[in-house]
Amino acid sequence: MSTRQQVVGAILGEHRALSAVIEALRHVAQALEQGSLKPDYVMLWSLIYYIDQYPETHHHPMEEQALFPAVRARTPDLDEVLDELGRQHGASRAHLDELRALLGNMEAGIPGARSAFAAKASSYAGFHQRHMLLEESRVLPTAIELLREQDWEALLPRVQQRADPLDGHAVNSDPWFREFFRRLVAIVPQPWGLGAPR
Ligand SMILES: [Fe+2]
Ligand SMILES: [Fe+2]
Repeated sequence: MSTRQQVVGAILGEHRALSAVIEALRHVAQALEQGSLKPDYVMLWSLIYYIDQYPETHHHPMEEQALFPAVRARTPDLDEVLDELGRQHGASRAHLDELRALLGNMEAGIPGARSAFAAKASSYAGFHQRHMLLEESRVLPTAIELLREQDWEALLPRVQQRADPLDGHAVNSDPWFREFFRRLVAIVPQPWGLGAPR
């Protein structure tokens, strides 16, 4: 596999994992609203923790600090798209704060909270899907076209670098997240995860 394929494959793999968790949240929230599922707050808070932390500690910094500057260095054509994607990275936190607040309301039994949570989970899933689509339809094809071998070689350690080597056991290290992802998949009910249907 070429260096380019490894970098692009790693980025697409991160998109798929994050999308799977966000889609699980959207479906679970919908089923809760419809009353076909009972809330499991450990699962719900865990889903939100993953969606909040993984992009913030791994994916967005890799894009902002490595991929986007590499593309900017080869062409000014995507400057506006990259600016917009950077703004969306910044906006992502506020969406998650809102989701957390609504989940808290749901746990407190506030009337209407389940519907509000389902609506927010759905709009967040749409926001995230549009964001990734923009990266996959504009940024990655341009990168594939214009980046040179030395650019891909510089990017490879950045996409492979997960944990701070001095802090390898921190909760934001990649092995920890991978294990957390496996646990999540195991507790999210079928058909969205591998957990027991409820
Ligand atoms: Fe992004
Ligand atoms: Fe991305």
